[in-house]
Amino acid sequence: MRAKNVITLDGGAHTGKSTAAQRLAARLNWDWVSTGAFYRGLARVADAAGISPDNEAALVDLIRSKEFRVVLTPEATRFEYQGRDLTGEIFTPRVGDLTPRISRLAGVRAGLLQAQRDLIKGRQGLIVEGRDCGTVVFPDAVLKFWFIVADEAAGARWAKSHNTTVAEAVEHIRERNRRDVERATAQMKPASDAITIDTSDLNSEGVVSLLMQKCHEARLLAARPLGE
Ligand code: C5P
Repeated sequence: MRAKNVITLDGGAHTGKSTAAQRLAARLNWDWVSTGAFYRGLARVADAAGISPDNEAALVDLIRSKEFRVVLTPEATRFEYQGRDLTGEIFTPRVGDLTPRISRLAGVRAGLLQAQRDLIKGRQGLIVEGRDCGTVVFPDAVLKFWFIVADEAAGARWAKSHNTTVAEAVEHIRERNRRDVERATAQMKPASDAITIDTSDLNSEGVVSLLMQKCHEARLLAARPLGE
């Protein structure tokens, strides 16, 4: 039985998943979540507490303390710890480096899984974006997308916003993805029933139009006119 109100978007860094998830959710009047916020938030809290990213037991204790909250808004997935909004602090280069080191740990992934699944409770529908959403978190999602992008296209976008060369940007993105692909648990890979979306030659509006078209083809939105 498919979860009719869950769509997953998985793929590597800088493939355009977050923007697409946000826009698709707005079109469908559903909510969306970036599951990366769970891992980034945990990395940020552990770092501030002096917990090593290799200390699985301490990280699992941190999760079990249930002092964090992931809050869904139309603009962003927010992360709070002990009532403090840390969203502005989870996208620093330091947290970006620490996050794949903690997300590779099986205990961390198992600890965060139920909280991610619980996000659907009480919602009309949910777009879930990350690395393992269609394979592990919501394997029964009604529609699954796998985002890819040519290295050069992703590098050019990243270089522009980070004031660096395309070659450096490509290297940075490859290294980020390498760690998520090679880890032992919940490797980044497409679900066998995922539809591949190549964003290399599309702007964000083009991507969301394509996703809407796939939703219609899957008869998910039978009652809605295309493009609404
Ligand atoms: O998507 P975002 O860049 O915020 O993800 C940051 C990191 O969090 C990824 O590089 C990956 O290590 C981890 N992550 C994950 N599984 C997910 C989402 C994110 O392992 N579903």
